[in-house]
Amino acid sequence: MLISHFSGTNALTRFANWLEGQHFSNIEILVDSHTCEHCLPRFRDAIRWQGDPLVIPAGEESKGLEQAMRLWSRLLDCAADRSTLLINLGGGVVTDLGGFVASTYKRGVPFVHVPTSLLGQVDAAIGSKTGIDHGGIKNSVGTFSSPLALVIDNVFLDTLPQTEYRSGMAEVFKHALIADGNLWKDICTISPDGRLSEEMIERAAGVKMEIVEQDPLEKSQRKLLNFGHSLGHAIESVALVNGTPIRHGEAVAAGMLMESWISFQIDRLDEGSWMEIRSVLTKYYPRLTGGIFLEDACLGYLRNDKKNAGTSIRMVLLEDLGKGVVHQEVSEQQSRSALQAYSGFYPPNE
Ligand SMILES: NC(=O)c1ccc[n+]([C@@H]2O[C@H](COP(=O)([O-])OP(=O)(O)OC[C@H]3O[C@@H](n4cnc5c(N)ncnc54)[C@H](O)[C@@H]3O)[C@@H](O)[C@H]2O)c1
Repeated sequence: MLISHFSGTNALTRFANWLEGQHFSNIEILVDSHTCEHCLPRFRDAIRWQGDPLVIPAGEESKGLEQAMRLWSRLLDCAADRSTLLINLGGGVVTDLGGFVASTYKRGVPFVHVPTSLLGQVDAAIGSKTGIDHGGIKNSVGTFSSPLALVIDNVFLDTLPQTEYRSGMAEVFKHALIADGNLWKDICTISPDGRLSEEMIERAAGVKMEIVEQDPLEKSQRKLLNFGHSLGHAIESVALVNGTPIRHGEAVAAGMLMESWISFQIDRLDEGSWMEIRSVLTKYYPRLTGGIFLEDACLGYLRNDKKNAGTSIRMVLLEDLGKGVVHQEVSEQQSRSALQAYSGFYPPNE
Protein backbone atom coordinates (compact mmCIF):
# COMPACT_ATOMS: atom_id res chain seq x y z
CA MET A 1 0.00 0.00 0.00
CA LEU A 2 1.28 3.46 -0.91
CA ILE A 3 1.89 5.45 2.24
CA SER A 4 2.79 8.98 1.12
CA HIS A 5 2.22 10.79 -2.12
CA PHE A 6 3.92 14.10 -2.97
CA SER A 7 2.94 15.90 -6.16
CA GLY A 8 2.21 19.41 -7.40
CA THR A 9 3.86 22.55 -6.08
CA ASN A 10 7.08 22.00 -4.12
CA ALA A 11 6.60 18.25 -4.08
CA LEU A 12 10.34 17.66 -3.70
CA THR A 13 10.67 20.03 -0.75
CA ARG A 14 7.67 18.53 0.99
CA PHE A 15 9.15 15.06 0.47
CA ALA A 16 12.49 16.23 1.91
CA ASN A 17 10.67 17.49 5.01
CA TRP A 18 8.85 14.19 5.35
CA LEU A 19 12.09 12.24 4.96
CA GLU A 20 13.70 14.20 7.76
CA GLY A 21 11.10 12.85 10.14
CA GLN A 22 11.74 9.20 9.17
CA HIS A 23 14.28 6.86 10.74
CA PHE A 24 16.27 4.77 8.31
CA SER A 25 19.59 3.12 9.09
CA ASN A 26 20.89 4.30 5.74
CA ILE A 27 19.72 5.76 2.43
CA GLU A 28 20.88 4.46 -0.95
CA ILE A 29 19.94 6.16 -4.22
CA LEU A 30 19.62 4.33 -7.53
CA VAL A 31 20.04 6.37 -10.72
CA ASP A 32 20.93 5.67 -14.32
CA SER A 33 23.77 7.42 -16.10
CA HIS A 34 21.46 10.22 -17.34
CA THR A 35 19.53 10.86 -14.15
CA CYS A 36 22.83 10.75 -12.27
CA GLU A 37 23.91 13.76 -14.29
CA HIS A 38 20.62 15.63 -14.67
CA CYS A 39 18.52 14.84 -11.61
CA LEU A 40 20.79 13.73 -8.78
CA PRO A 41 22.41 17.13 -8.07
CA ARG A 42 19.03 18.78 -7.45
CA PHE A 43 17.77 15.79 -5.50
CA ARG A 44 20.93 15.57 -3.38
CA ASP A 45 20.57 19.23 -2.43
CA ALA A 46 16.91 18.84 -1.56
CA ILE A 47 17.43 15.92 0.82
CA ARG A 48 20.98 16.89 1.86
CA TRP A 49 22.49 13.51 0.98
CA GLN A 50 26.18 13.05 0.37
CA GLY A 51 26.67 9.36 -0.44
CA ASP A 52 27.74 7.62 -3.64
CA PRO A 53 24.76 6.65 -5.78
CA LEU A 54 24.17 3.20 -7.27
CA VAL A 55 24.45 3.84 -11.01
CA ILE A 56 23.22 1.68 -13.89
CA PRO A 57 23.73 2.39 -17.60
CA ALA A 58 20.73 4.24 -19.08
CA GLY A 59 18.39 2.14 -21.22
CA GLU A 60 16.07 -0.85 -21.22
CA GLU A 61 19.06 -3.22 -21.51
CA SER A 62 19.77 -2.50 -17.83
CA LYS A 63 16.40 -3.86 -16.76
CA GLY A 64 17.60 -7.45 -16.41
CA LEU A 65 19.03 -10.01 -14.05
CA GLU A 66 22.61 -8.89 -14.58
CA GLN A 67 22.00 -5.41 -13.12
CA ALA A 68 19.67 -6.81 -10.46
CA MET A 69 22.44 -9.15 -9.26
CA ARG A 70 24.96 -6.33 -9.33
CA LEU A 71 22.68 -4.18 -7.19
CA TRP A 72 21.96 -6.97 -4.68
CA SER A 73 25.74 -7.39 -4.33
CA ARG A 74 26.27 -3.65 -3.91
CA LEU A 75 23.60 -3.57 -1.19
CA LEU A 76 25.34 -6.46 0.58
CA ASP A 77 28.70 -4.69 0.24
CA CYS A 78 27.35 -1.58 1.90
CA ALA A 79 25.72 -3.69 4.63
CA ALA A 80 22.21 -2.59 3.74
CA ASP A 81 19.71 -3.98 6.22
CA ARG A 82 15.94 -4.13 6.46
CA SER A 83 15.74 -0.51 7.53
CA THR A 84 17.87 0.80 4.68
CA LEU A 85 15.82 2.95 2.30
CA LEU A 86 16.37 2.64 -1.44
CA ILE A 87 15.34 5.72 -3.43
CA ASN A 88 14.77 5.09 -7.14
CA LEU A 89 15.45 8.34 -9.01
CA GLY A 90 14.84 7.88 -12.71
CA GLY A 91 12.52 6.73 -15.45
CA GLY A 92 10.57 3.50 -15.66
CA VAL A 93 13.71 1.39 -15.98
CA VAL A 94 15.10 2.67 -12.67
CA THR A 95 11.78 2.41 -10.81
CA ASP A 96 10.95 -1.07 -12.19
CA LEU A 97 14.44 -2.44 -11.52
CA GLY A 98 14.96 -0.60 -8.23
CA GLY A 99 11.53 -1.65 -6.97
CA PHE A 100 12.31 -5.25 -7.91
CA VAL A 101 15.71 -5.23 -6.22
CA ALA A 102 14.31 -3.60 -3.07
CA SER A 103 11.33 -5.94 -2.85
CA THR A 104 13.53 -9.05 -3.08
CA TYR A 105 16.70 -8.02 -1.19
CA LYS A 106 16.51 -9.56 2.29
CA ARG A 107 12.83 -10.31 1.52
CA GLY A 108 12.09 -6.65 1.07
CA VAL A 109 13.48 -3.29 2.11
CA PRO A 110 11.57 0.00 1.97
CA PHE A 111 11.83 2.03 -1.21
CA VAL A 112 10.65 5.35 -2.62
CA HIS A 113 9.99 6.17 -6.27
CA VAL A 114 10.97 9.55 -7.65
CA PRO A 115 10.03 9.26 -11.33
CA THR A 116 11.91 11.67 -13.58
CA SER A 117 10.43 10.80 -16.99
CA LEU A 118 6.90 11.63 -18.10
CA LEU A 119 6.24 7.93 -18.59
CA GLY A 120 7.41 7.25 -15.05
CA GLN A 121 5.29 10.05 -13.58
CA VAL A 122 2.01 9.05 -15.22
CA ASP A 123 2.50 5.31 -15.34
CA ALA A 124 5.54 3.22 -14.44
CA ALA A 125 6.02 4.47 -10.88
CA ILE A 126 2.32 4.08 -10.05
CA GLY A 127 0.62 0.81 -9.25
CA SER A 128 3.23 -1.24 -7.39
CA LYS A 129 4.44 -3.43 -10.23
CA THR A 130 8.18 -4.01 -10.18
CA GLY A 131 10.12 -6.16 -12.58
CA ILE A 132 12.82 -7.06 -15.01
CA ASP A 133 12.93 -8.41 -18.56
CA HIS A 134 14.02 -12.02 -18.86
CA GLY A 135 14.22 -14.65 -21.60
CA GLY A 136 13.54 -12.02 -24.25
CA ILE A 137 10.16 -11.24 -22.63
CA LYS A 138 9.52 -7.84 -21.10
CA ASN A 139 8.61 -7.74 -17.43
CA SER A 140 8.56 -11.53 -17.24
CA VAL A 141 9.91 -11.60 -13.68
CA GLY A 142 8.70 -9.25 -10.97
CA THR A 143 6.69 -8.55 -7.87
CA PHE A 144 3.76 -6.49 -6.69
CA SER A 145 5.34 -4.26 -4.10
CA SER A 146 4.46 -0.74 -2.99
CA PRO A 147 6.84 2.13 -2.44
CA LEU A 148 6.74 3.87 0.89
CA ALA A 149 6.35 7.16 -0.97
CA LEU A 150 5.91 8.49 -4.50
CA VAL A 151 7.28 11.90 -5.45
CA ILE A 152 6.04 13.50 -8.68
CA ASP A 153 7.76 16.82 -9.29
CA ASN A 154 7.83 18.21 -12.77
CA VAL A 155 11.07 20.13 -12.22
CA PHE A 156 12.76 16.91 -13.29
CA LEU A 157 11.08 16.98 -16.69
CA ASP A 158 13.04 20.11 -17.71
CA THR A 159 16.01 18.01 -18.79
CA LEU A 160 14.01 15.15 -20.32
CA PRO A 161 14.72 14.98 -24.08
CA GLN A 162 11.66 15.61 -26.27
CA THR A 163 11.87 12.12 -27.82
CA GLU A 164 11.50 10.64 -24.32
CA TYR A 165 8.74 13.09 -23.48
CA ARG A 166 6.88 12.00 -26.60
CA SER A 167 7.30 8.38 -25.58
CA GLY A 168 5.69 9.18 -22.22
CA MET A 169 2.84 10.97 -23.97
CA ALA A 170 1.69 7.60 -25.32
CA GLU A 171 0.66 6.56 -21.81
CA VAL A 172 -1.10 9.90 -21.35
CA PHE A 173 -3.04 9.32 -24.59
CA LYS A 174 -3.79 5.80 -23.37
CA HIS A 175 -5.17 6.94 -20.02
CA ALA A 176 -7.36 9.47 -21.78
CA LEU A 177 -8.65 6.95 -24.34
CA ILE A 178 -9.55 4.26 -21.82
CA ALA A 179 -11.10 6.43 -19.13
CA ASP A 180 -11.23 10.19 -19.64
CA GLY A 181 -12.74 11.66 -22.81
CA ASN A 182 -12.25 15.22 -21.53
CA LEU A 183 -8.55 14.64 -20.98
CA TRP A 184 -8.37 13.27 -24.54
CA LYS A 185 -9.89 16.51 -25.88
CA ASP A 186 -7.45 18.62 -23.88
CA ILE A 187 -4.29 16.76 -24.83
CA CYS A 188 -5.15 16.52 -28.52
CA THR A 189 -4.21 20.18 -28.73
CA ILE A 190 -0.62 19.54 -27.58
CA SER A 191 1.85 19.56 -30.46
CA PRO A 192 4.58 16.90 -30.73
CA ASP A 193 7.04 19.57 -29.54
CA GLY A 194 4.82 20.80 -26.73
CA ARG A 195 4.59 20.01 -23.04
CA LEU A 196 1.67 19.24 -20.73
CA SER A 197 0.64 21.45 -17.85
CA GLU A 198 1.26 20.14 -14.34
CA GLU A 199 -2.49 19.79 -13.97
CA MET A 200 -2.76 17.55 -17.05
CA ILE A 201 0.03 15.33 -15.74
CA GLU A 202 -1.83 14.99 -12.45
CA ARG A 203 -5.04 14.08 -14.27
CA ALA A 204 -3.25 11.45 -16.35
CA ALA A 205 -1.56 9.99 -13.27
CA GLY A 206 -4.93 10.14 -11.48
CA VAL A 207 -6.52 7.84 -14.07
CA LYS A 208 -3.99 5.15 -13.27
CA MET A 209 -4.16 5.68 -9.51
CA GLU A 210 -7.93 5.34 -9.51
CA ILE A 211 -7.96 2.17 -11.61
CA VAL A 212 -5.18 0.58 -9.55
CA GLU A 213 -6.90 1.42 -6.30
CA GLN A 214 -10.04 -0.40 -7.44
CA ASP A 215 -8.17 -3.45 -8.73
CA PRO A 216 -4.62 -3.60 -7.32
CA LEU A 217 -3.86 -7.16 -8.44
CA GLU A 218 -5.17 -6.82 -12.00
CA LYS A 219 -8.09 -9.22 -11.69
CA SER A 220 -10.33 -7.19 -14.01
CA GLN A 221 -10.47 -3.41 -14.59
CA ARG A 222 -6.73 -2.86 -14.17
CA LYS A 223 -6.38 -4.74 -17.45
CA LEU A 224 -7.73 -1.56 -19.08
CA LEU A 225 -4.24 -0.12 -18.64
CA ASN A 226 -3.01 -2.66 -21.17
CA PHE A 227 -4.77 -0.93 -24.04
CA GLY A 228 -2.24 -0.69 -26.88
CA HIS A 229 0.08 -3.06 -25.05
CA SER A 230 -0.87 -6.41 -26.64
CA LEU A 231 0.32 -5.55 -30.12
CA GLY A 232 2.59 -2.83 -28.70
CA HIS A 233 4.52 -5.29 -26.51
CA ALA A 234 4.71 -7.74 -29.41
CA ILE A 235 6.47 -5.26 -31.73
CA GLU A 236 8.58 -3.93 -28.86
CA SER A 237 9.75 -7.48 -28.05
CA VAL A 238 10.51 -8.27 -31.70
CA ALA A 239 12.50 -5.04 -31.94
CA LEU A 240 14.43 -5.87 -28.75
CA VAL A 241 15.30 -9.39 -29.93
CA ASN A 242 16.31 -8.01 -33.36
CA GLY A 243 18.80 -5.74 -31.62
CA THR A 244 16.95 -2.58 -32.76
CA PRO A 245 15.06 -1.55 -29.61
CA ILE A 246 12.31 1.05 -29.91
CA ARG A 247 10.96 3.24 -27.14
CA HIS A 248 8.17 1.75 -25.04
CA GLY A 249 5.85 4.68 -25.77
CA GLU A 250 6.42 4.49 -29.51
CA ALA A 251 5.49 0.81 -29.43
CA VAL A 252 2.40 1.53 -27.33
CA ALA A 253 1.33 4.31 -29.71
CA ALA A 254 1.55 1.88 -32.65
CA GLY A 255 -0.28 -0.73 -30.52
CA MET A 256 -3.06 1.77 -29.75
CA LEU A 257 -3.44 2.56 -33.44
CA MET A 258 -3.76 -1.13 -34.31
CA GLU A 259 -6.06 -1.97 -31.40
CA SER A 260 -8.29 1.07 -32.11
CA TRP A 261 -8.46 -0.08 -35.72
CA ILE A 262 -9.57 -3.57 -34.59
CA SER A 263 -12.18 -1.90 -32.34
CA PHE A 264 -13.50 -0.07 -35.40
CA GLN A 265 -13.35 -3.15 -37.65
CA ILE A 266 -15.54 -5.16 -35.30
CA ASP A 267 -17.99 -2.26 -34.81
CA ARG A 268 -17.16 -1.55 -31.19
CA LEU A 269 -15.88 1.94 -32.06
CA ASP A 270 -17.54 4.32 -34.51
CA GLU A 271 -15.71 5.50 -37.59
CA GLY A 272 -15.49 9.15 -36.48
CA SER A 273 -13.73 8.20 -33.27
CA TRP A 274 -11.34 5.88 -35.11
CA MET A 275 -10.50 8.62 -37.63
CA GLU A 276 -9.85 11.08 -34.79
CA ILE A 277 -7.49 8.68 -33.00
CA ARG A 278 -5.72 7.93 -36.28
CA SER A 279 -5.33 11.60 -37.09
CA VAL A 280 -3.97 12.54 -33.64
CA LEU A 281 -1.60 9.60 -33.15
CA THR A 282 -0.16 9.52 -36.67
CA LYS A 283 0.61 13.25 -36.46
CA TYR A 284 2.24 12.77 -33.10
CA TYR A 285 4.21 9.59 -33.79
CA PRO A 286 6.17 8.98 -37.01
CA ARG A 287 5.52 5.67 -38.74
CA LEU A 288 7.63 2.81 -37.34
CA THR A 289 9.46 0.75 -39.91
CA GLY A 290 11.82 -2.21 -40.01
CA GLY A 291 11.18 -5.87 -39.45
CA ILE A 292 9.18 -5.38 -36.26
CA PHE A 293 5.75 -6.02 -37.78
CA LEU A 294 6.68 -9.59 -38.80
CA GLU A 295 3.38 -11.32 -38.21
CA ASP A 296 4.61 -14.75 -37.12
CA ALA A 297 7.10 -13.31 -34.66
CA CYS A 298 4.53 -10.88 -33.24
CA LEU A 299 1.89 -13.62 -32.96
CA GLY A 300 4.38 -15.72 -31.00
CA TYR A 301 4.51 -12.96 -28.39
CA LEU A 302 0.77 -12.34 -28.55
CA ARG A 303 0.06 -16.00 -27.73
CA ASN A 304 2.18 -15.55 -24.59
CA ASP A 305 0.35 -12.39 -23.51
CA LYS A 306 -0.71 -12.37 -19.87
CA LYS A 307 -4.23 -11.16 -20.74
CA ASN A 308 -5.09 -14.28 -22.74
CA ALA A 309 -7.55 -16.88 -21.52
CA GLY A 310 -6.53 -20.40 -22.55
CA THR A 311 -5.57 -20.35 -26.21
CA SER A 312 -7.62 -17.32 -27.23
CA ILE A 313 -6.03 -13.89 -27.54
CA ARG A 314 -7.67 -11.23 -25.37
CA MET A 315 -7.16 -7.50 -25.76
CA VAL A 316 -8.45 -4.25 -24.42
CA LEU A 317 -10.53 -2.52 -27.08
CA LEU A 318 -12.30 0.83 -27.23
CA GLU A 319 -16.02 1.59 -27.23
CA ASP A 320 -15.63 5.34 -27.29
CA LEU A 321 -13.09 8.13 -26.83
CA GLY A 322 -12.62 7.73 -23.08
CA LYS A 323 -14.08 4.24 -22.69
CA GLY A 324 -12.05 1.04 -22.88
CA VAL A 325 -13.39 -2.47 -22.48
CA VAL A 326 -11.41 -5.46 -21.19
CA HIS A 327 -11.40 -9.21 -22.03
CA GLN A 328 -12.16 -8.82 -25.75
CA GLU A 329 -11.42 -11.92 -27.80
CA VAL A 330 -9.45 -11.11 -30.96
CA SER A 331 -8.60 -13.79 -33.51
CA GLU A 332 -5.11 -14.41 -34.84
CA GLN A 333 -6.37 -13.35 -38.26
CA GLN A 334 -7.61 -9.99 -36.90
CA SER A 335 -4.25 -9.46 -35.23
CA ARG A 336 -2.42 -10.27 -38.47
CA SER A 337 -4.67 -7.88 -40.38
CA ALA A 338 -3.93 -5.08 -37.89
CA LEU A 339 -0.16 -5.63 -38.24
CA GLN A 340 -0.55 -5.50 -42.04
CA ALA A 341 -2.80 -2.43 -41.89
CA TYR A 342 -0.50 -0.34 -39.64
CA SER A 343 1.60 1.37 -42.27
CA GLY A 344 -1.55 2.28 -44.28
CA PHE A 345 -2.75 4.42 -41.35
CA TYR A 346 -0.13 6.99 -42.45
CA PRO A 347 -0.29 9.15 -45.58
CA PRO A 348 1.60 7.35 -48.41
CA ASN A 349 4.65 9.61 -48.48
CA GLU A 350 5.28 9.93 -44.75
N1 LIG B 1 5.75 -0.85 -13.60
C1 LIG B 1 4.84 -0.41 -14.43
O1 LIG B 1 3.64 -0.41 -14.13
C2 LIG B 1 5.26 0.12 -15.76
C3 LIG B 1 4.33 0.79 -16.57
C4 LIG B 1 4.77 1.32 -17.78
C5 LIG B 1 6.09 1.18 -18.19
N2 LIG B 1 6.94 0.50 -17.38
C6 LIG B 1 8.34 0.32 -17.79
O2 LIG B 1 8.96 1.61 -17.84
C7 LIG B 1 10.08 1.55 -18.75
C8 LIG B 1 10.04 2.75 -19.65
O3 LIG B 1 10.15 3.91 -18.85
P1 LIG B 1 10.85 5.24 -19.41
O4 LIG B 1 10.28 5.59 -20.72
O5 LIG B 1 10.85 6.21 -18.31
O6 LIG B 1 12.32 4.69 -19.75
P2 LIG B 1 13.75 5.01 -19.11
O7 LIG B 1 13.76 4.80 -17.66
O8 LIG B 1 14.71 4.23 -19.94
O9 LIG B 1 13.94 6.57 -19.38
C9 LIG B 1 14.01 7.02 -20.69
C10 LIG B 1 15.31 7.81 -20.93
O10 LIG B 1 15.17 9.09 -20.34
C11 LIG B 1 16.26 9.34 -19.46
N3 LIG B 1 15.77 10.21 -18.42
C12 LIG B 1 14.83 9.94 -17.49
N4 LIG B 1 14.55 11.02 -16.78
C13 LIG B 1 15.34 12.01 -17.25
C14 LIG B 1 15.47 13.38 -16.93
N5 LIG B 1 14.73 13.97 -16.01
N6 LIG B 1 16.40 14.11 -17.62
C15 LIG B 1 17.13 13.53 -18.62
N7 LIG B 1 17.03 12.25 -18.98
C16 LIG B 1 16.13 11.50 -18.30
C17 LIG B 1 16.72 7.98 -19.02
O11 LIG B 1 18.05 8.01 -18.60
C18 LIG B 1 16.56 7.19 -20.32
O12 LIG B 1 17.64 7.43 -21.16
C19 LIG B 1 9.93 0.23 -19.51
O13 LIG B 1 10.86 -0.68 -18.99
C20 LIG B 1 8.52 -0.23 -19.19
O14 LIG B 1 8.38 -1.63 -19.22
C21 LIG B 1 6.56 -0.01 -16.19
